Amino acid sequence: MPNRRQFIQQIGAASALGLGAKAGLGLASTHSDKAFHQVPKQFPRTRLRVDGKWPSDLVGNLYRNSPAMLERNGFQHSHLFDGDGMIQRFTLEGGQVFHQAQMVATHKYLAEEDAGRFLYRGLGSSPPNPRPSRNNDTANPANISVRKMGNKLFALWEAGSAYEIDPDTLATYGRVDWNDDLKHLPFSAHPLRDENGDWWNIGSWIYGGQARTIIYQLDAKANLKRVKAIPMQQAGYMHAFALSPRFVILVNTANIYRAGENYFDSFHYDSKGKSEIVLVDKNDLSVFKTIDIPANFVFHFGNAFELGDELCFSMAEYKNADIMNQGLGLGPQSAFAKDATQYNSELNLYRINLKSGQWRKEHSQLSLEFPNIKESQAFSAQAIIGMGRPVAPGAKADQDYLLSYHPLTGEQEHYDFGENITIEEPLYVRGGNDQEYVLHTLADRDKQQTGLALFKAGELAAGPVATAWANEQFPFGFHGCFVGA
Ligand SMILES: [Fe+2]
Repeated sequence: MPNRRQFIQQIGAASALGLGAKAGLGLASTHSDKAFHQVPKQFPRTRLRVDGKWPSDLVGNLYRNSPAMLERNGFQHSHLFDGDGMIQRFTLEGGQVFHQAQMVATHKYLAEEDAGRFLYRGLGSSPPNPRPSRNNDTANPANISVRKMGNKLFALWEAGSAYEIDPDTLATYGRVDWNDDLKHLPFSAHPLRDENGDWWNIGSWIYGGQARTIIYQLDAKANLKRVKAIPMQQAGYMHAFALSPRFVILVNTANIYRAGENYFDSFHYDSKGKSEIVLVDKNDLSVFKTIDIPANFVFHFGNAFELGDELCFSMAEYKNADIMNQGLGLGPQSAFAKDATQYNSELNLYRINLKSGQWRKEHSQLSLEFPNIKESQAFSAQAIIGMGRPVAPGAKADQDYLLSYHPLTGEQEHYDFGENITIEEPLYVRGGNDQEYVLHTLADRDKQQTGLALFKAGELAAGPVATAWANEQFPFGFHGCFVGA
């Protein structure tokens, strides 16, 4: 492993991201949801109201990360990525559901609490008179995901360090340095577990126009085993990756960074350019193959599996990057506007012949985002769950559904909660009797209430086994994990 100086040379430099951004919205938000305005700094433990019979064999905690604090001192951020992270925990025990939540005590959050205002630029919007950032963690809001690796719980961003969280109290232990050489370097929100229990992750690092992808391998206890920074041919946005038994699969998108004043504003979608699939060999962390594909944009992947000489993996693929700047903004084109459909990606299966390098794409025609799989079968073809729009008679184009789709058989299922419900990331979870369920949060935008819905896996169309509802609406979130008892 290189020492810090060598590593810094490899990756270019470890100074601050050139973050700048357009101004926020002031308070003229188009969103009436309380969830987008001032939120409490913590939600004390409360019991949710259960409808139906919540199975007592399903015991554990659903953790979710929410970019909750978007507003301070009369200023409101205009991009969802800029809210400070809040860890929400839904505890399932004895057929009952409890909720509590707590802000992540990042350097940024604590400094801004002291100051009584936002101090630092966000990725998509910035307060007046922002202070300069000293490094990638100065303005790290730790707001995209929360994952358990080993016996530790981590709040994850993508452009800086992880923060470790107490899984019981939700208190913040502090920023994580994987070693002294890796302080403040990007660590994405989407680590993936290998068959042997190791964890893999990426950090997408763009500095001075040169992109490098940092590949991390951690052991089952979340201690660093290996790290390497791999130069990329183009400075494309990368949010997550896929993992197969042999490869770390990167998609270097056609949303290209050109050094400018801002961060998200600095990305320009090059529809006439290309995206690249980069296969990194897990054995020696070398680039096995780079495959050019037509320009696309992607945040999230389904799982990867091998069929003979073919490497197969799914991605929720966009035709442009509007989702990044507009869809996750809070303006009129927001995916979170009450009447908007959230995402317009298509869940497509890429099949690459590893011998010839030839590839093909199988379209699902199905809009599915926040894809998740059964992690116990991560390297096998399986039904991917998410939310979006099915290919089905009568399916409304302007509404999100809970979805399941098998990329090989094309088999799909969906459930319709109706137009007032916003669905959030579904996860496969396993009960004590090995029953597989699908669990997700949802929001009733009319009643302004947050809930949980539970389905039997493979029986989505039958409707939820049970739901549980709070009397209020908690902040919307991105990703999370379920930790069984
Ligand atoms: Fe994500």
